[in-house]
Amino acid sequence: MHKITVAIDGYSGCGKSTTARLVADALQYTYLDTGAMYRAVTHYFLENHVDWNDADAVAAALPRIRVSFGERRADGGRDTLLNGANVEDAIRSMAVSSKVSEVSAVPAVRRFLVAQQQQIGQAKGVVAEGRDMGTHVFPEAELKVFVTADMDVRAERRQAELQAKGQDVSLQEIRDNLTHRDRIDTSRDDTPLRQADDAEVLDTTHLTIPQQVAWVVERARTRMHDG
Ligand code: DC
Repeated sequence: MHKITVAIDGYSGCGKSTTARLVADALQYTYLDTGAMYRAVTHYFLENHVDWNDADAVAAALPRIRVSFGERRADGGRDTLLNGANVEDAIRSMAVSSKVSEVSAVPAVRRFLVAQQQQIGQAKGVVAEGRDMGTHVFPEAELKVFVTADMDVRAERRQAELQAKGQDVSLQEIRDNLTHRDRIDTSRDDTPLRQADDAEVLDTTHLTIPQQVAWVVERARTRMHDG
């Protein structure tokens, strides 16, 4: 068996992150949450009043930003660190969620983070999750998955997730945020979200999390034996 790269892309709130994290656990692979990296940069910009529409301000700020991940938690995830500080909760807030698509549309931000993602993925044995994993960051990935789900299901799942963290947000607000992000993520000029030609579609609308994980793990194991 050889190590492969699993690239998981798709819309926000389709169960991508949970699936990717559990798949990485099952395969004993590194889980790479690239959305967390865009969120950490967004958090930095908001906290430090960096105007992301100002190319000079962005160029000056990026070298001051170091995104990394903490030790593996019991649930298989790893906390996101910004210049060494744990920002895991802050980057999941609505404040960051409502701006992250704008920040991630900035080409200099993408170049900065893509280089780091490719470095982390170099050794293979990685489950990379985001919007451009299969199309741009890891075009040679042995397994590419494109995750979708109905909007109502996505909004309900995201609401439950936020509620578990003590954040009460209305379904309408979440739906508006998801729709807004879908629009920006799919229409930006720089590597927009789209399904790679060789990606397999995983529709999670009627699936449980264990079913989603099994679907990906089964395909990953086949690819691991193929090589
Ligand atoms: O997966 P997420 O919801 O945490 O991602 C947050 C935002 O970051 C999402 O709106 C789009 C952007 N993103 C991106 O542009 N490219 C990636 N590889 C990952 C995320």
